[in-house]
Amino acid sequence: MIPTVEWRDGTVCLLDQSCLPGEVRILNCYDHHMVASAIRDLKVRGAPAIGVAAALGVALAAHTTRATSPLAFAQEMETVCAEFSSTRPTAVNLFWALDRMRRVLHTWAQASVDTLKRLLLKEALRIQEEDLAMNRAIGRHGSTVVADGHQILTHCNAGALATAGYGTALGVVRAAWEQGKRIHVFADETRPVLQGARLTAWELRQEGIPVTVITDNTAGVLMKQRRIDLCLVGADRIAANGDVANKIGTYSLAVLAKAHGVPFYVAAPSSTIDCAIASGEAIPIETRPPHEVTSLYSGTRIAPEGVEVLNLAFDVTPADYITGIITERGIFRPEQIDKVMCSAHEGEFVGRRE
Ligand code: MRU
Repeated sequence: MIPTVEWRDGTVCLLDQSCLPGEVRILNCYDHHMVASAIRDLKVRGAPAIGVAAALGVALAAHTTRATSPLAFAQEMETVCAEFSSTRPTAVNLFWALDRMRRVLHTWAQASVDTLKRLLLKEALRIQEEDLAMNRAIGRHGSTVVADGHQILTHCNAGALATAGYGTALGVVRAAWEQGKRIHVFADETRPVLQGARLTAWELRQEGIPVTVITDNTAGVLMKQRRIDLCLVGADRIAANGDVANKIGTYSLAVLAKAHGVPFYVAAPSSTIDCAIASGEAIPIETRPPHEVTSLYSGTRIAPEGVEVLNLAFDVTPADYITGIITERGIFRPEQIDKVMCSAHEGEFVGRRE
Protein backbone atom coordinates (compact mmCIF):
# COMPACT_ATOMS: atom_id res chain seq x y z
CA MET A 1 0.00 0.00 0.00
CA ILE A 2 1.38 3.43 -0.94
CA PRO A 3 1.68 5.60 2.20
CA THR A 4 -0.94 8.35 2.57
CA VAL A 5 1.54 10.84 4.03
CA GLU A 6 5.33 10.62 4.16
CA TRP A 7 8.28 12.74 5.25
CA ARG A 8 11.11 12.48 2.69
CA ASP A 9 14.22 14.58 3.25
CA GLY A 10 12.48 17.84 4.08
CA THR A 11 9.43 17.30 1.87
CA VAL A 12 5.94 16.19 2.88
CA CYS A 13 4.76 13.73 0.22
CA LEU A 14 1.02 13.12 -0.02
CA LEU A 15 -0.85 10.57 -2.06
CA ASP A 16 -3.24 12.94 -3.88
CA GLN A 17 -6.60 11.34 -3.09
CA SER A 18 -8.49 13.74 -5.35
CA CYS A 19 -6.98 11.88 -8.35
CA LEU A 20 -7.96 8.37 -7.22
CA PRO A 21 -8.92 5.90 -8.52
CA GLY A 22 -7.90 7.13 -11.99
CA GLU A 23 -4.36 8.12 -11.20
CA VAL A 24 -1.85 7.43 -8.44
CA ARG A 25 -0.20 10.83 -8.08
CA ILE A 26 2.17 11.95 -5.35
CA LEU A 27 1.98 15.59 -4.33
CA ASN A 28 5.34 16.85 -3.05
CA CYS A 29 4.83 19.71 -0.58
CA TYR A 30 7.87 21.94 -0.19
CA ASP A 31 6.23 24.39 2.21
CA HIS A 32 3.53 24.14 4.84
CA HIS A 33 1.04 26.26 2.85
CA MET A 34 0.93 23.45 0.28
CA VAL A 35 0.10 20.93 3.02
CA ALA A 36 -2.65 23.19 4.42
CA SER A 37 -4.18 23.64 0.93
CA ALA A 38 -4.05 19.88 0.35
CA ILE A 39 -6.03 19.33 3.57
CA ARG A 40 -8.59 21.99 2.62
CA ASP A 41 -9.00 20.54 -0.90
CA LEU A 42 -9.38 16.91 0.34
CA LYS A 43 -6.14 15.80 -1.35
CA VAL A 44 -5.41 14.30 2.01
CA ARG A 45 -8.53 13.55 4.06
CA GLY A 46 -9.87 11.32 6.83
CA ALA A 47 -9.55 12.46 10.45
CA PRO A 48 -6.32 10.69 11.49
CA ALA A 49 -4.56 11.41 8.16
CA ILE A 50 -5.43 15.11 8.50
CA GLY A 51 -3.81 15.13 11.96
CA VAL A 52 -0.64 13.41 10.71
CA ALA A 53 -0.40 15.71 7.66
CA ALA A 54 -0.80 18.84 9.82
CA ALA A 55 1.85 17.65 12.30
CA LEU A 56 4.28 16.97 9.45
CA GLY A 57 3.27 20.34 7.97
CA VAL A 58 4.35 22.07 11.19
CA ALA A 59 7.63 20.10 11.10
CA LEU A 60 8.06 21.27 7.49
CA ALA A 61 7.48 24.90 8.49
CA ALA A 62 10.11 24.45 11.22
CA HIS A 63 12.49 22.93 8.66
CA THR A 64 12.07 25.80 6.16
CA THR A 65 11.86 28.81 8.53
CA ARG A 66 14.39 31.63 8.43
CA ALA A 67 13.77 32.47 12.10
CA THR A 68 16.95 32.26 14.13
CA SER A 69 15.87 33.35 17.62
CA PRO A 70 13.79 30.95 19.75
CA LEU A 71 11.16 33.65 20.30
CA ALA A 72 10.70 34.44 16.59
CA PHE A 73 10.65 30.69 15.88
CA ALA A 74 7.96 30.02 18.50
CA GLN A 75 5.82 32.91 17.23
CA GLU A 76 6.10 31.66 13.67
CA MET A 77 5.13 28.12 14.67
CA GLU A 78 2.08 29.52 16.47
CA THR A 79 1.01 31.24 13.22
CA VAL A 80 1.57 27.99 11.32
CA CYS A 81 -0.60 26.05 13.82
CA ALA A 82 -3.34 28.70 13.44
CA GLU A 83 -3.23 28.26 9.65
CA PHE A 84 -3.69 24.49 10.00
CA SER A 85 -6.48 24.95 12.57
CA SER A 86 -8.50 26.88 9.99
CA THR A 87 -8.37 24.16 7.32
CA ARG A 88 -11.17 21.84 8.47
CA PRO A 89 -13.30 22.21 11.62
CA THR A 90 -14.83 18.81 12.40
CA ALA A 91 -12.07 16.20 12.70
CA VAL A 92 -10.67 16.66 16.20
CA ASN A 93 -7.52 14.70 15.31
CA LEU A 94 -6.31 17.87 13.59
CA PHE A 95 -6.50 19.93 16.80
CA TRP A 96 -5.19 17.03 18.87
CA ALA A 97 -2.09 16.71 16.65
CA LEU A 98 -1.49 20.48 16.60
CA ASP A 99 -1.76 20.56 20.36
CA ARG A 100 0.93 17.88 20.63
CA MET A 101 3.20 19.96 18.42
CA ARG A 102 2.52 23.09 20.52
CA ARG A 103 3.27 21.11 23.66
CA VAL A 104 6.77 20.35 22.34
CA LEU A 105 7.33 24.09 21.83
CA HIS A 106 6.13 24.88 25.36
CA THR A 107 8.00 22.05 27.06
CA TRP A 108 11.26 22.95 25.33
CA ALA A 109 10.81 26.74 25.39
CA GLN A 110 14.46 27.19 26.46
CA ALA A 111 15.93 25.00 23.70
CA SER A 112 17.80 26.22 20.61
CA VAL A 113 16.03 26.59 17.27
CA ASP A 114 17.95 23.60 15.86
CA THR A 115 16.91 21.40 18.79
CA LEU A 116 13.28 22.50 18.41
CA LYS A 117 13.32 21.68 14.70
CA ARG A 118 14.56 18.18 15.49
CA LEU A 119 12.04 17.66 18.30
CA LEU A 120 9.08 18.85 16.21
CA LEU A 121 9.93 16.41 13.42
CA LYS A 122 10.37 13.61 15.94
CA GLU A 123 6.95 14.36 17.46
CA ALA A 124 5.22 14.45 14.05
CA LEU A 125 6.78 11.09 13.10
CA ARG A 126 5.74 9.69 16.48
CA ILE A 127 2.13 10.79 15.87
CA GLN A 128 2.26 8.97 12.53
CA GLU A 129 3.73 5.77 14.04
CA GLU A 130 1.28 5.77 16.93
CA ASP A 131 -1.67 6.11 14.56
CA LEU A 132 -0.60 3.03 12.63
CA ALA A 133 -0.17 1.06 15.86
CA MET A 134 -3.59 2.19 17.16
CA ASN A 135 -5.23 1.11 13.89
CA ARG A 136 -3.72 -2.35 14.10
CA ALA A 137 -5.03 -2.66 17.67
CA ILE A 138 -8.47 -1.45 16.54
CA GLY A 139 -8.36 -4.14 13.86
CA ARG A 140 -7.51 -6.84 16.41
CA HIS A 141 -10.31 -5.84 18.80
CA GLY A 142 -12.86 -5.13 16.09
CA SER A 143 -12.32 -8.39 14.23
CA THR A 144 -13.99 -10.20 17.14
CA VAL A 145 -17.39 -8.84 16.05
CA VAL A 146 -16.89 -10.01 12.46
CA ALA A 147 -17.86 -13.62 11.71
CA ASP A 148 -16.96 -15.80 8.76
CA GLY A 149 -19.35 -15.02 5.91
CA HIS A 150 -20.38 -11.59 7.21
CA GLN A 151 -21.57 -8.91 4.79
CA ILE A 152 -20.43 -5.54 6.05
CA LEU A 153 -21.75 -2.12 5.11
CA THR A 154 -19.41 0.86 5.34
CA HIS A 155 -19.73 4.55 4.56
CA CYS A 156 -17.14 7.02 3.26
CA ASN A 157 -13.51 5.87 3.57
CA ALA A 158 -12.12 5.00 6.98
CA GLY A 159 -9.25 3.00 5.55
CA ALA A 160 -5.48 3.17 5.15
CA LEU A 161 -6.01 6.23 2.98
CA ALA A 162 -7.74 8.07 5.84
CA THR A 163 -5.02 7.26 8.38
CA ALA A 164 -1.28 6.65 8.70
CA GLY A 165 -2.06 3.13 7.42
CA TYR A 166 -4.27 0.04 7.91
CA GLY A 167 -7.40 2.11 8.64
CA THR A 168 -10.01 2.14 11.40
CA ALA A 169 -13.30 0.70 10.06
CA LEU A 170 -11.35 -0.86 7.18
CA GLY A 171 -8.66 -1.90 9.69
CA VAL A 172 -11.33 -4.12 11.25
CA VAL A 173 -12.21 -5.45 7.78
CA ARG A 174 -8.50 -6.04 7.02
CA ALA A 175 -7.89 -7.87 10.30
CA ALA A 176 -10.93 -10.13 9.75
CA TRP A 177 -9.75 -10.84 6.19
CA GLU A 178 -6.20 -11.60 7.40
CA GLN A 179 -7.74 -14.12 9.84
CA GLY A 180 -9.22 -15.95 6.86
CA LYS A 181 -12.82 -14.85 7.37
CA ARG A 182 -14.71 -14.79 4.07
CA ILE A 183 -16.30 -11.39 4.21
CA HIS A 184 -17.92 -9.10 1.69
CA VAL A 185 -18.02 -5.30 1.93
CA PHE A 186 -20.79 -3.08 0.59
CA ALA A 187 -19.36 0.41 0.14
CA ASP A 188 -21.77 3.35 0.04
CA GLU A 189 -20.62 5.58 -2.80
CA THR A 190 -20.86 8.54 -0.34
CA ARG A 191 -22.22 11.56 -2.16
CA PRO A 192 -21.04 14.14 -3.00
CA VAL A 193 -17.26 13.54 -2.91
CA LEU A 194 -17.57 9.76 -3.45
CA GLN A 195 -15.00 8.60 -0.91
CA GLY A 196 -16.73 5.19 -0.91
CA ALA A 197 -16.84 4.64 -4.66
CA ARG A 198 -13.45 6.18 -5.40
CA LEU A 199 -11.35 5.36 -2.33
CA THR A 200 -12.84 2.48 -0.31
CA ALA A 201 -13.45 0.44 -3.46
CA TRP A 202 -9.91 1.19 -4.74
CA GLU A 203 -8.29 0.36 -1.41
CA LEU A 204 -10.14 -2.93 -0.92
CA ARG A 205 -9.57 -4.05 -4.49
CA GLN A 206 -5.81 -3.46 -4.06
CA GLU A 207 -5.92 -6.26 -1.47
CA GLY A 208 -8.45 -8.49 -3.14
CA ILE A 209 -11.10 -7.99 -0.43
CA PRO A 210 -14.52 -8.48 -2.09
CA VAL A 211 -16.37 -5.17 -2.39
CA THR A 212 -19.59 -4.01 -4.02
CA VAL A 213 -20.24 -0.28 -4.49
CA ILE A 214 -23.82 0.82 -3.90
CA THR A 215 -25.54 4.19 -4.12
CA ASP A 216 -26.18 5.66 -0.70
CA ASN A 217 -29.93 5.08 -1.02
CA THR A 218 -29.49 1.32 -1.54
CA ALA A 219 -28.52 0.64 2.11
CA GLY A 220 -32.12 0.43 3.37
CA VAL A 221 -33.29 -2.20 0.95
CA LEU A 222 -30.19 -4.35 1.57
CA MET A 223 -30.88 -4.27 5.31
CA LYS A 224 -34.54 -5.14 4.70
CA GLN A 225 -33.43 -8.12 2.61
CA ARG A 226 -31.17 -9.22 5.51
CA ARG A 227 -28.08 -8.87 3.33
CA ILE A 228 -26.16 -6.73 5.86
CA ASP A 229 -24.84 -8.36 9.05
CA LEU A 230 -22.91 -5.39 10.36
CA CYS A 231 -22.37 -1.67 9.77
CA LEU A 232 -18.82 -0.42 10.37
CA VAL A 233 -17.91 3.25 10.05
CA GLY A 234 -15.16 5.62 11.18
CA ALA A 235 -15.48 8.91 13.08
CA ASP A 236 -14.27 12.49 12.89
CA ARG A 237 -15.06 13.39 16.47
CA ILE A 238 -16.63 11.48 19.35
CA ALA A 239 -18.13 13.49 22.23
CA ALA A 240 -17.75 12.36 25.85
CA ASN A 241 -21.32 10.96 25.83
CA GLY A 242 -20.55 8.72 22.83
CA ASP A 243 -22.28 10.80 20.13
CA VAL A 244 -20.31 10.43 16.88
CA ALA A 245 -19.67 12.92 14.08
CA ASN A 246 -18.83 11.22 10.80
CA LYS A 247 -19.40 11.69 7.07
CA ILE A 248 -22.84 13.01 6.12
CA GLY A 249 -25.23 10.07 5.74
CA THR A 250 -23.84 8.13 8.70
CA TYR A 251 -26.81 9.16 10.87
CA SER A 252 -29.32 7.92 8.26
CA LEU A 253 -27.47 4.59 8.12
CA ALA A 254 -27.52 4.25 11.91
CA VAL A 255 -31.29 4.88 11.99
CA LEU A 256 -31.81 2.27 9.28
CA ALA A 257 -29.57 -0.18 11.12
CA LYS A 258 -31.55 0.24 14.36
CA ALA A 259 -34.86 -0.20 12.51
CA HIS A 260 -33.61 -3.46 11.00
CA GLY A 261 -31.75 -4.80 14.05
CA VAL A 262 -28.34 -4.57 12.36
CA PRO A 263 -25.39 -3.94 14.76
CA PHE A 264 -23.81 -0.54 14.15
CA TYR A 265 -20.13 -0.14 15.14
CA VAL A 266 -17.87 2.91 15.02
CA ALA A 267 -14.10 2.34 14.85
CA ALA A 268 -11.80 5.17 15.97
CA PRO A 269 -8.56 5.79 17.86
CA SER A 270 -8.47 7.75 21.13
CA SER A 271 -7.20 10.78 19.17
CA THR A 272 -10.74 11.08 17.74
CA ILE A 273 -12.35 11.32 21.18
CA ASP A 274 -13.01 14.88 22.31
CA CYS A 275 -13.49 14.69 26.05
CA ALA A 276 -13.89 18.47 26.20
CA ILE A 277 -17.21 18.19 24.37
CA ALA A 278 -20.10 16.81 26.41
CA SER A 279 -22.43 15.86 23.57
CA GLY A 280 -22.60 15.80 19.79
CA GLU A 281 -24.62 19.01 19.69
CA ALA A 282 -21.44 21.01 20.34
CA ILE A 283 -19.46 19.42 17.50
CA PRO A 284 -18.72 21.98 14.75
CA ILE A 285 -19.97 20.71 11.40
CA GLU A 286 -18.12 21.71 8.25
CA THR A 287 -20.10 23.20 5.37
CA ARG A 288 -18.40 22.69 2.02
CA PRO A 289 -18.75 24.60 -1.28
CA PRO A 290 -21.94 24.22 -3.38
CA HIS A 291 -20.12 23.03 -6.50
CA GLU A 292 -19.46 19.63 -4.86
CA VAL A 293 -23.25 19.08 -4.94
CA THR A 294 -24.30 20.92 -8.12
CA SER A 295 -21.70 19.14 -10.28
CA LEU A 296 -20.71 15.51 -10.58
CA TYR A 297 -17.17 14.62 -9.53
CA SER A 298 -16.24 14.72 -13.24
CA GLY A 299 -17.35 18.36 -13.39
CA THR A 300 -20.68 17.90 -15.25
CA ARG A 301 -23.32 20.29 -13.88
CA ILE A 302 -26.43 18.51 -12.54
CA ALA A 303 -28.35 21.36 -10.87
CA PRO A 304 -29.45 24.72 -12.24
CA GLU A 305 -27.01 27.62 -12.09
CA GLY A 306 -27.57 29.74 -8.96
CA VAL A 307 -29.71 27.19 -7.09
CA GLU A 308 -29.42 27.27 -3.29
CA VAL A 309 -27.33 24.40 -1.88
CA LEU A 310 -26.69 23.03 1.60
CA ASN A 311 -23.54 20.91 1.60
CA LEU A 312 -22.96 19.63 5.11
CA ALA A 313 -19.87 17.42 5.17
CA PHE A 314 -20.73 15.60 8.41
CA ASP A 315 -23.62 14.64 10.66
CA VAL A 316 -23.88 13.47 14.26
CA THR A 317 -25.18 10.03 15.20
CA PRO A 318 -26.57 10.00 18.74
CA ALA A 319 -25.03 7.42 21.06
CA ASP A 320 -28.37 5.52 21.29
CA TYR A 321 -27.94 4.29 17.74
CA ILE A 322 -24.44 2.90 18.27
CA THR A 323 -23.85 -0.70 19.33
CA GLY A 324 -20.18 -0.22 20.18
CA ILE A 325 -17.15 1.99 19.70
CA ILE A 326 -14.05 0.06 18.71
CA THR A 327 -10.88 1.74 19.99
CA GLU A 328 -7.25 0.66 20.37
CA ARG A 329 -8.06 -0.16 24.02
CA GLY A 330 -11.04 -2.37 23.30
CA ILE A 331 -14.72 -2.19 22.35
CA PHE A 332 -16.95 -0.02 24.53
CA ARG A 333 -20.59 0.91 24.65
CA PRO A 334 -20.94 4.63 23.82
CA GLU A 335 -21.97 5.46 27.40
CA GLN A 336 -18.69 3.95 28.67
CA ILE A 337 -16.52 6.31 26.60
CA ASP A 338 -16.42 9.12 29.16
CA LYS A 339 -15.35 6.86 32.01
CA VAL A 340 -12.96 4.61 30.11
CA MET A 341 -11.36 6.96 27.59
CA CYS A 342 -11.63 10.39 29.23
CA SER A 343 -10.76 9.80 32.87
CA ALA A 344 -7.85 7.57 31.79
CA HIS A 345 -6.25 10.70 30.30
CA GLU A 346 -6.47 12.84 33.43
CA GLY A 347 -4.02 15.71 33.33
CA GLU A 348 -3.48 15.29 29.61
CA PHE A 349 -5.10 17.23 26.82
CA VAL A 350 -7.77 14.99 25.32
CA GLY A 351 -9.76 17.33 23.15
CA ARG A 352 -10.03 20.72 21.63
CA ARG A 353 -9.28 23.30 24.25
CA GLU A 354 -10.54 26.57 22.63
O1 MRU B 1 -14.40 14.56 4.39
P1 MRU B 1 -13.53 13.38 4.71
O2 MRU B 1 -13.25 12.52 3.54
O3 MRU B 1 -12.26 13.83 5.44
O4 MRU B 1 -14.37 12.53 5.76
C1 MRU B 1 -13.83 11.36 6.27
C2 MRU B 1 -14.73 10.60 7.18
O5 MRU B 1 -15.84 11.01 7.45
C3 MRU B 1 -14.17 9.36 7.80
O6 MRU B 1 -15.18 8.42 8.02
C4 MRU B 1 -13.51 9.71 9.16
O7 MRU B 1 -12.63 10.80 9.02
C5 MRU B 1 -12.80 8.56 9.74
S1 MRU B 1 -11.33 8.15 8.87
C6 MRU B 1 -10.54 6.92 9.72
